[in-house]
Amino acid sequence: MNFHCYIQQEQSVTIQWGCLFFITIKPGKMKATKQLKEEHEGIKIMLSVMEKIAGNLEKGEELNRDHFTGILGFLKGFTDQCHHGKEEGHLFPAMVERGIPELGGPVGVMLHEHRLGREYVAAMSSAFDQWKEGDPSAAGRIVSTVRSYVELLRNHIEKENNILFNMADQALDEQEQLQMAGDFEKLEQDEIGPGKHEEYHRFLKEMKETYLT
Ligand SMILES: [Fe+2]
Ligand SMILES: [Fe+2]
Repeated sequence: MNFHCYIQQEQSVTIQWGCLFFITIKPGKMKATKQLKEEHEGIKIMLSVMEKIAGNLEKGEELNRDHFTGILGFLKGFTDQCHHGKEEGHLFPAMVERGIPELGGPVGVMLHEHRLGREYVAAMSSAFDQWKEGDPSAAGRIVSTVRSYVELLRNHIEKENNILFNMADQALDEQEQLQMAGDFEKLEQDEIGPGKHEEYHRFLKEMKETYLT
């Protein structure tokens, strides 16, 4: 799997990061939709981690507080603020501008699913707080909200990868896609902060090694 960060330079450089990731530093040449698809691959790994944790919790195994706190931070920071921020702040408006309808159309469906995901994450956070305060019944609510979120996001990602991004690729020319990739980089710098993206990737790698190997 490749995760990309964009800098202004002449050549692309790929660096192996542990046994899981290759960090490719490119001179801003990747299409916006390709970058979003690669982020989907990271999000899908976290969904599998969450599915495993929900199964363990259901079997009566102890929930690791630090891990679940980190996962909630990943969902809010990487998946929602960063990834959904790129889609909602740049890709979707550009598609609507080119005549792809929002209300009653595919963009509206994607926005609705982002909002639903935020509601599940809020419910998950609330159940986790109650569990930390000693409410044993909160474990069941953590399991059910995790499973609802995982199902929602997996279906959402399939729709974007196979339908919505194909529509975007037809609506936007290569120059517009490259320009948007630059806008994504600026969003990461301005709203997420330097080094935060790499921090999320390190946490994802740790969770994958802990729960999926
Ligand atoms: Fe989305
Ligand atoms: Fe997405």
